[in-house]
Amino acid sequence: MNFFVRSFSRSVIIVLMTLKGFGANAQSTVIPIETKNNAIVLRVGDDKRLSMVYFGGKLANNTEYAAVPKVTKQDKYDNVYNSAYTTSGTHNLLEPAIEVTHADGNKSLELQYVDHTVTKINDDVSLLSIRLKDSLYNFEVTLNYQTYYNENVTEQWSVITHHEKKDVVLNKYASANLYIQADSYWLNHYHGEWAQEMRAEEEQLNHGIKTLDSKLGSRADIFQPPVFMVSLNKPAGEDEGLVLYGNLEWSGNFRIDLEVDPTNNLRLIAGMNNYAANYTLKAGVAFETPKFVYTLSDKGKGEASRNLQSWARKYKVLDGQGPRLTLLNNWESTYFDFNNDKLSALLKDTKDLGVDLFLLDDGWFGNKYPRNGDHAGLGDWEVNKAKLPLGIPFLTKTAKQNGVKFGIWVEPEMVNPKSELYEKHPDWVVKQPNRPEFYMRNQLVLDLSNPAVQNFVFGVVDKLFVENPELAYIKWDCNALMYNAYSPYQKNQGNFYTDYVRGLYSVLDRLRAKYPKVPMMLCSGGGGRVDYGALKYFTEFWPSDNTEPIERVFIQWEYSYFYPALTSSNHVTDWGKQPIKFRTDVAMMGKLGFDIVVSKLKPEELAYCQGALKTYKEFSEAIWHGEQYRLQDPKTNDVASIMYVDSAKNNAIMFNYLVNQRYQAGSHLPIRMKGLQEDKMYEVSEVNMMPGHNSSFATATYSGKFLMTVGLNPDARSGRNSVLIAVRGK
Ligand code: DGJ
Repeated sequence: MNFFVRSFSRSVIIVLMTLKGFGANAQSTVIPIETKNNAIVLRVGDDKRLSMVYFGGKLANNTEYAAVPKVTKQDKYDNVYNSAYTTSGTHNLLEPAIEVTHADGNKSLELQYVDHTVTKINDDVSLLSIRLKDSLYNFEVTLNYQTYYNENVTEQWSVITHHEKKDVVLNKYASANLYIQADSYWLNHYHGEWAQEMRAEEEQLNHGIKTLDSKLGSRADIFQPPVFMVSLNKPAGEDEGLVLYGNLEWSGNFRIDLEVDPTNNLRLIAGMNNYAANYTLKAGVAFETPKFVYTLSDKGKGEASRNLQSWARKYKVLDGQGPRLTLLNNWESTYFDFNNDKLSALLKDTKDLGVDLFLLDDGWFGNKYPRNGDHAGLGDWEVNKAKLPLGIPFLTKTAKQNGVKFGIWVEPEMVNPKSELYEKHPDWVVKQPNRPEFYMRNQLVLDLSNPAVQNFVFGVVDKLFVENPELAYIKWDCNALMYNAYSPYQKNQGNFYTDYVRGLYSVLDRLRAKYPKVPMMLCSGGGGRVDYGALKYFTEFWPSDNTEPIERVFIQWEYSYFYPALTSSNHVTDWGKQPIKFRTDVAMMGKLGFDIVVSKLKPEELAYCQGALKTYKEFSEAIWHGEQYRLQDPKTNDVASIMYVDSAKNNAIMFNYLVNQRYQAGSHLPIRMKGLQEDKMYEVSEVNMMPGHNSSFATATYSGKFLMTVGLNPDARSGRNSVLIAVRGK
């Protein structure tokens, strides 16, 4: 054996000269992509095609990656099914990652390896870029793999360019194409609707293609979000099993194909949806696809989610390592019906409650067409003079006098046909020129692929900040999906869906350049748009308009697999029949807020809420930045149980919620905690009780080992349907 090894920190390029003993081809280049626990191995074949030959545990000796055997049983298929970026129109007959129509109308593509570079960004992050080129056409694709070593996370995307004589049409342009070998594949994915977000389904993948996708344009995730898990060999548990998490960082149409191929391996192709989106690409222009982020864990769903959460806090979510503001929102207490007096009273309530900020929701704008309901005014971002004659400055001033901050709702991507904006700029609206308009929530989407519209949308938010320097928070809503998708601006309608999202990101880039840190909530009539493409600009998201707390336990639980708790805006509202304690305890497992009429609370309820905010403050470090451990799943237990441990393993909080209303449902056995230090002593006590109520849970001190091996029964049951246990290191 004769190796030439060039080492670039953790990424290693191995040129294998001869390796007959391992059955590898002579002269193949092997490219391992390593994180702390895992490795992907790519190999360049004799024909210069790049294939993915391994995805699994990392080897101690990286020269051994060269010995990874061919992935398919029949030689003739090697290098075809397992292509690292499957082309079309040539040898491949399976689902492609890329499909193009060249300037001359030819539809064939054959990508061959040219070279690759590794850029070490810091001790944790490396970027591997592999250049592939067609041998006949001046057409090139760069595959990028950005690894986050300690988090075991990889982001993958491609950049497509050409120098052909005329435009090229991209018919398909995936971000990533993975090839995974296992005995069986178990897909956990989600479906939903308004107020029914994140309903999980798990199924075994059989031969053929299962596609997760969206064609909704804006509010793209309302039926299905771009997140999923694939367990390998058997369904993974919370703490055991091999599982891959995937998540496309894109706020528009997506498409994720999972294909068990004829050789029983899994081909995974993820990217923007190419539905009605043949993209016309000019020569010399780089077409960059969104990032597909994934993590693999051999310790089950819990570790995979902690990988992703810690990556997100560190690298993706805006201010992911910073604090969050508790707030009082007025949406459900007033809807569109408010004025200065009402809001002044609510600002006083904000102070009495003890939260950081008051958030004024929809209804504050529109004069010719006042926003007194959802049928008019959207697009006319002038303060409504009848409701708020003193404007926003009066509200920011009153907030200041009450010692709280002030935030405001906007939905700047949208327009009601009943608005001055629509009258003035019908050409800014997404709609078919010669067909009847079709509305969702009485509104239409503005054409953000048009730079003039981008300027307008930027201007709406910028003006609010310029006129109200004290403005401390934005809730950015997006309630309509795109019917009649047609852009009056675009020459090539196939570019529209992509350029819409790019237009949105360009507005958000400009806003973030000017206002880098102001917290913003990503809302879309509930969780209609939750993804890491957007969370780069937002500090948090609104999981659902459904705030009935039992429903909410399930919704928040499922989001928690993919997003850190500090991004999940959980508001206490009057939905449902549960007491204020249950509602607040449930909201505390993420970013706490309220949307209730504080003045209607009984004195003991107000005292409870004020106390809960103090508990929240004590444990916010663990909830926002600590490790999250799921202890009992609401889908299979009477009591859902989840805990958060701060990074020093000193302070932790355990949330227990009774989710089954049947006779004698409850926590009958001890629940084992997780994530503590075995030899450390912890005082364990119930917190967040209604004033005057005693706990049936005895305060005592135990070792971490005891709490994690034997566990404790929180005694959650009817009459004690939410129980919060503080775990304080001694
Ligand atoms: C939908 C959001 O999900 C709600 O929270 C609220 O902001 C309304 N829009 C306002 O119209």
